[in-house]
Amino acid sequence: MQSVLVTGGAGFIGSNFVKYLLREESDVHVINLDALTYAGNLENLNDLPAPERHEFIKGNICDGPLVHRLLREYKIDTIVHFAAESHVDRSILGPSQFIQTNIVGTFTLLDEAKKFWVDEEAFSLADVRLHHISTDEVYGSLGPDDPPFSETTPYAPNSPYAASKASSDHLVRAYGHTYGMPISITNCSNNYGPLQYPEKLIPLMILNALTGKDLPIYGDGQQIRDWLLVEDHCEAILRVIKDGIPGETYNVGGGNQPTNIEIVELICSFLDELVPDSPHAPHISLIRHVADRPGHDRRYAIDNTKIRRELDWQPHDSLQSGLLKTVEWYLRNSNWVLMVLNNPTFKGWIDRNYSIGSLNE
Ligand code: NAD
Ligand code: DAU
Repeated sequence: MQSVLVTGGAGFIGSNFVKYLLREESDVHVINLDALTYAGNLENLNDLPAPERHEFIKGNICDGPLVHRLLREYKIDTIVHFAAESHVDRSILGPSQFIQTNIVGTFTLLDEAKKFWVDEEAFSLADVRLHHISTDEVYGSLGPDDPPFSETTPYAPNSPYAASKASSDHLVRAYGHTYGMPISITNCSNNYGPLQYPEKLIPLMILNALTGKDLPIYGDGQQIRDWLLVEDHCEAILRVIKDGIPGETYNVGGGNQPTNIEIVELICSFLDELVPDSPHAPHISLIRHVADRPGHDRRYAIDNTKIRRELDWQPHDSLQSGLLKTVEWYLRNSNWVLMVLNNPTFKGWIDRNYSIGSLNE
């Protein structure tokens, strides 16, 4: 691994991964291809550990000629594919961009990589890898007593987002199976941590609570997710790229099962302690139940036995410690927070997704 194309490296997980990779691998050069949609932000790349080994390219993964050129110009031997439309609620309101980026974009990357690596034999196939970042949502929703998702759980995606990710997983697998492309896939649970765009539950709740806005809980708030600190996800991805078997899938998760309401209550209690003179304390009083997400998946849980056993990976942070670090990060990084909150695109999303009056401006 010398010349790594990271797609979506200006987004939440991608930017955390770029920093992790530059820190961990002293010989690697990173080419960061990102279209800078509403979710991508160059500010996320401000404090790179080795900026001289990073090059940012603004561009779209659906642009075949661009991907074709980048692969050859930078002699790319590894692709780590994060770029995607990633928010379930947006996929419900407007699925078409999800089809384009998540399916057509992944196909474009795969097909260009195949031309370069397989058809032109630019490298020995033992020296290349396309790693695809996927999600546990491809497996659908669990009942309260169902066993957690393993790598052999049948796919049953429920939202347009999950269906588009499932489709991209199938394409990645098919390129490995048919053309012998050295691919790998990680299906990970809900991430949280620094630099997450506040459309997602945890940063939205932290920032709304800090500014005295309502904390909108969809439905009864008893839905369950498995939460993983983003740094632990980054470590798992690098472990799979370096030591995982080509063609294999690895499930990655934090091994916890809180309800959404428990997560929000924990955030509120951290804020009560960290900002004791807040006029909005106790922050729990800001919780409001709002209309449920259509088709809302009830429960996700990950069985990460395979990656634990085969690659000796395990999360370092518990949900408690990771969440506390995350709340502290948002408190410390008010410049980043204000930049995102004051962007009209963000305000437009809040108005569009939440019913009038549920969030007091
Ligand atoms: P994000 O929305 O924060 O970032 C996505 C990035 O992709 C942005 O920088 C955006 O500009 C870029 N992008 C979007 N469309 C593009 C295109 N057509 N061409 C180039 N760049 C484009 O997403 P995230 O939360 O960091 O998720 C990253 C990946 O991890 C996604 O594939 C997602 O499905 C997967 N994933 C996310 C989670 C999670 O909890 N956030 C969990 C498991 C898997
Ligand atoms: O499971 C992995 C997936 O996790 C990733 O593939 C997705 O990219 C990522 O967005 C995330 O999907 P979720 O839909 O689980 O995450 P989100 O943060 O949007 O919501 C988490 C839970 O909180 C979910 O049950 C919906 C609920 N929720 C969310 C928001 C934004 C609320 O109750 N209120 C809210 O305002």
